[in-house]
Amino acid sequence: MWKGRLAIVAILAVSLLATLSMFAVRGASDDQLEVYSWWTGPGEEEGLAAMAKSFETANPGVRFVNAAVSGGAGSNAKAILASRLLANDPPDSYQRHAGLELLDDVRSGKVQDLSDLYRQQGWTKVFPKGLVDNLTIENKIYAVPVNIHRANLLWYNPKALRELGIAAPPKTWAEFLQQAEAIKAKGKIPLAVGPEWTQKHLLETVLLGELGPDKYENLFAGGMSWLAPDVAGALDMYAKVLAESDVKSAAGDWQPQLDKVFSGSAVYAVMGDWSSSYLEGSKKLQFHADYDVVASPGSNGVYDFLSDSFTLPTGARRPDLARKWLVECGSTEGQNLFNPLKGSIPARTDTDAALYKGYLEWALQQWRDPKTRIVGSLTHGVVANNAYNAEIDSALGLFVQHGDEGKFAQTVERQFRETQ
Ligand code: GAL
Repeated sequence: MWKGRLAIVAILAVSLLATLSMFAVRGASDDQLEVYSWWTGPGEEEGLAAMAKSFETANPGVRFVNAAVSGGAGSNAKAILASRLLANDPPDSYQRHAGLELLDDVRSGKVQDLSDLYRQQGWTKVFPKGLVDNLTIENKIYAVPVNIHRANLLWYNPKALRELGIAAPPKTWAEFLQQAEAIKAKGKIPLAVGPEWTQKHLLETVLLGELGPDKYENLFAGGMSWLAPDVAGALDMYAKVLAESDVKSAAGDWQPQLDKVFSGSAVYAVMGDWSSSYLEGSKKLQFHADYDVVASPGSNGVYDFLSDSFTLPTGARRPDLARKWLVECGSTEGQNLFNPLKGSIPARTDTDAALYKGYLEWALQQWRDPKTRIVGSLTHGVVANNAYNAEIDSALGLFVQHGDEGKFAQTVERQFRETQ
């Protein structure tokens, strides 16, 4: 008898709980915003969390769902995102770089025009014109930038250089090759590299250093051939530089790539300035004293930029909340919360420069200096569309293995025409 009653009570309790949790799930999915990025490392994750917290405070009851997928430069995130977009299952907002990386999404109708939000927020007056141009396709603006990063940087440990008797980091790639001889004689690796995208990042900086900014831009705009003698010279230099690296036992991502420099097994690494927050935050190193940085060889005075931006996907479940998130991304407060932790400078021109200390103070001053020449990054989406970039990836993978510069140049030259 008792047993029978207990069983009925238990069944009722279970079904009540099930009903409640169904409401809870439905409630949660109504009041949550899914944001997709590849920021899972130290510094970047904290920067995102700071903006998320500010968003949640401004929108009580709404939960920020961090859908980040790890892997530097979006190496895994971009592929998974592509399949979600194909299945019409977009997050409420996703990370893209300013520049031609946006083009496919726009052409295939995957992202919405944000021009009205720009007008409402007055953003065209607070973001640099060149940056807004990189977010505009056929007069419509498609993403909101949170930051500016610099790609063309050479990181090193100043104490290690002194111990090696090297007075200063190399100003040209030819000088790097000379230093490499002395470094190897002391049993160290001249240059640390990481996975394929870091090798492309290195290629980009060697091309920039060897060709100079005009020819670099022209090459990616299709005005200069990959078969031109200057480019052949730059590719030859790339092969020589790579031969002085640890490419055969390359690190798994950009953080362990930098670790090799700061543990003392390697001397230099080319990487973007997200490195600064990793070195200062995680590794507790001090700018100038424990780590230092210069423009990558041959690119002094040039800012090879990229910008992390967020979109409003077509079919986002909560477009109203997504717009509020974009407002957070574009706001002075959001940018100042995010960037000092992320190791980047604000995209807005009207933010308080005093918040940006150490490396970031230098970066901001260089970015705002009217004498600085700005060019766009290849690896991080500015100067090449996704199809062309993917072809460069495949060709570069073969080039790094087999060292056939001529074949690489021919393939990339042909692919440029086929992917426009
Ligand atoms: C870039 C991105 C940066 C940083 C870096 C390393 O593509 O713009 O914000 O995440 O990759 O993952």
